[in-house]
Amino acid sequence: MAEKPLVGIIIGSDSDLEVMRRAAATLEELQVPYELRLASAHRTPEKVRAYAEEAAPRGIQVLICAAGLAAHLAGTVAAHTDLPVIGVPMAGGVADGLDALLSTVQMPSGVPVGTVAVGRAGATNAALLAARIIALRDEAVRGRLAQYRRKMQDAVEAKDTELGT
Ligand code: RP5
Repeated sequence: MAEKPLVGIIIGSDSDLEVMRRAAATLEELQVPYELRLASAHRTPEKVRAYAEEAAPRGIQVLICAAGLAAHLAGTVAAHTDLPVIGVPMAGGVADGLDALLSTVQMPSGVPVGTVAVGRAGATNAALLAARIIALRDEAVRGRLAQYRRKMQDAVEAKDTELGT
C-alpha cells in the first residue's frame, strides 16, 4: 500500500507468513494502510526493539505481532512502545499453538498484549481489532467495518438458505 501505514504487522518468521496474509488481506479489504515486516524477538532482538521504538513516531497506530513456539515477539514489542499491541499465537510446536498462546497472553501486569485466537481466526481478528481501533477516529473505516459485518451476515444467511430445510 502506498499510503503511510497505520498498522504494523510483524511476523517472527517467514514460516508465519501464509497465515498472516489473512491479516494483511483483511486490512486491504478495509482499506487500512499497513506494512508487513519480519523480525524475531530471539533471532533479531535489536531490530525488534528499534522497530517498536520507531513505530509511533512514524505514524503507526496499532501493532500486530505474530509468533509461534516460545512466542515472545508481541511481549517484547509491547515492552518498547505505548502503542496498542495485538498478539497472534501461531499453531505448531509441542502443544500446537497452546505454547504460543500462553507465551503471548500471560503478560505481567503493566505491559499489555491483547491476544487473539491461535492461527487463522486470530490473524483475521487481529486485523479487525486493529481496524476497530483506527475506526474510533476514522469514519470511513467505521463504515467499511459495518459493510464487512453485513457481508458476513449475508454469507451466513445464504448458506442457511442453501440448507433448504
Ligand atoms: C517463532 O518460531 C516464529 O514466529 C515461528 O512461528 C516459529 C518457528 O520459526 P521457524 O523456525 O519456522 O523460522 O519465532
